[in-house]
Amino acid sequence: MSRMTVNERPIEFLMDPETPLLWALRDAANLTGTKYGCGNGDCGACVVHIDGEPLRSCLVTIAEAEGRFITTVEGLSGSRAHPVQQALVAEQAIQCGFCTSGIVMAAAALIERNPGASEEEIKAAIPNICRCGVYPRLVRAIQRAGRVARRQERISAAPAPGISAEDAAVEVPALSAPDQDAQRGSPD
Ligand code: FES
Ligand code: FES
Repeated sequence: MSRMTVNERPIEFLMDPETPLLWALRDAANLTGTKYGCGNGDCGACVVHIDGEPLRSCLVTIAEAEGRFITTVEGLSGSRAHPVQQALVAEQAIQCGFCTSGIVMAAAALIERNPGASEEEIKAAIPNICRCGVYPRLVRAIQRAGRVARRQERISAAPAPGISAEDAAVEVPALSAPDQDAQRGSPD
C-alpha cells in the first residue's frame, strides 16, 4: 500500500509499489488529465507537481511518492483560472491538446519561481515535446502568463467546465462501467 496526498485528498494505492505514479493516477485514481506519451521520460506529457516540483510521473514509482503531495492538472485550478491556463487559451496555443496538461504543469511551476522568464529560460525549463509544433505560441503564452501572475495584465478567464473535474473521467465513453452500458442499451 502506498499513501500520498493527491489534489489535497489522502489516497492509498493498493498496487505494486513499483507501479509508475502515472499509471496509478490514470488507472486507479481516474485522473486522466495527466497523459501517457512515451513512458520513458522523454516527452513531458505526464508532468505533475510532487511537493511543488514539476516531475515526470512515468519515472516515479508510487513507493517513491509515498507521503508526498501530488498535484495533477485537475487540481491546479478547479475553475481553469490559473494564469497559464488562461494564457494558453488566449494565445490559442493548443491544437490536439495531448501535450497540454504536462506543459501547463511545467509552466505553472516555472512562473511560480520566475514569472519573467525569457524565451531561452522557458525552452530550457520546459523541453516538453509537442507533436503539433505549437512552440512559438507556447513561449508567448507562458510569458503572458508570467505578466498575468505579476498583475501586469489581465485575461478573461476561460469558460467554466461544463462538468466537474471529479466527474470528467466517467463521462469518457471508453471508461463507462458495464452496468452503465446496459442502462443505455448496448448495440447488438
Ligand atoms: S510519458 Fe512521461 S515523459 Fe513521456
Ligand atoms: S498540441 Fe498536439 S501535441 Fe501539443
